[in-house]
Amino acid sequence: MTDSTTPTGQLTIAVIGAGGKMGMRVSDNLQRSTHAVYYSENSPTGRQRTRDAGREVTDTPTAVADAHVVILAVPDVALGPVSAEVVPQLKPGTVLLTLDPAAAYANLLHQRVDVEYCVAHPCHPSVFLQRKTEAELNDTFGGIAAAQAVVAALQSGNEEKITIAEKVIRLMYAPVIDVHWVTVKQLAYLEPTLVEVVACMIGDLLNDALRETVDTVGVPEAAARAMLFGHIQVALANGLRGDNPFSDACLIAMDYGRNKIIKDDWKSIFDDGELDHVLKQMLHLDRIHP
Ligand SMILES: NC(=O)c1ccc[n+]([C@@H]2O[C@H](COP(=O)([O-])OP(=O)(O)OC[C@H]3O[C@@H](n4cnc5c(N)ncnc54)[C@H](O)[C@@H]3O)[C@@H](O)[C@H]2O)c1
Repeated sequence: MTDSTTPTGQLTIAVIGAGGKMGMRVSDNLQRSTHAVYYSENSPTGRQRTRDAGREVTDTPTAVADAHVVILAVPDVALGPVSAEVVPQLKPGTVLLTLDPAAAYANLLHQRVDVEYCVAHPCHPSVFLQRKTEAELNDTFGGIAAAQAVVAALQSGNEEKITIAEKVIRLMYAPVIDVHWVTVKQLAYLEPTLVEVVACMIGDLLNDALRETVDTVGVPEAAARAMLFGHIQVALANGLRGDNPFSDACLIAMDYGRNKIIKDDWKSIFDDGELDHVLKQMLHLDRIHP
């Protein structure tokens, strides 16, 4: 794979929505690179945050004019109108990078045949990551000290553009272990289906179960938290990595829990119709046009 965009490999990058949650995170990392980075932000508080971080705010037409890569770090529900404003201003061959697959999968992004559409979602540092420093331990989100993987999709599959996109992805989500390239639809089944519909929901359910144990049963909170947090590690290490077998009695309790809590048809969340159903709700749409 080659990177023929500039003889020196220097890139011009624009961050739109630079003062938001992800905009600030990716800008903090891009600011340290040697590339030319422009920051656009339309809310007064976002502009102030950008300036407070030592970055100049530029209007969007100036930011994107010479950009090789334009990062749209705006809310998913705004990606339709924001892309309709930004895409017509791009040079042919520009990589338009979004940070979540929902809008790309739902065909909300303004289309041009000569623009390269890419989505890159951070995996966040693995629960099994061997962390050595205080900074790594504190970086649960990733992008600061703890290494993470990224899953990305480039709609055209153009190898040269993948090289350019990966260069920016590795910088903005650094430190990055791997970038896994998949399709937009596969990325949509990873997020929301696998990690939000299932994993985040279970995280929230664990908190509900903790509250019931403390508030309804009356177990002292410190005891309940200690027991739960240690067992979450065992459940994940045994369940996902097979570190140790669950005990025979535990397997019986797990079967009881599954029968009591999980619906028989739960795997229907992996049907395309259900993916569209959840994305429709997340994006406040009447219907999805994949
Ligand atoms: N927040 C997360 O944890 C997280 C994680 C991974 C991916 N993402 C994705 O990142 C993207 C951004 O999400 P966020 O949570 O950072 O949103 P956010 O609401 O925190 O920030 C969005 C920013 O965009 C600005 N903005 C909106 N329209 C604009 C325009 N036309 N021009 C310039 N700026 C504009 C807003 O003022 C705001 O500062 C979404 O696609 C989201 O799915 C978010």
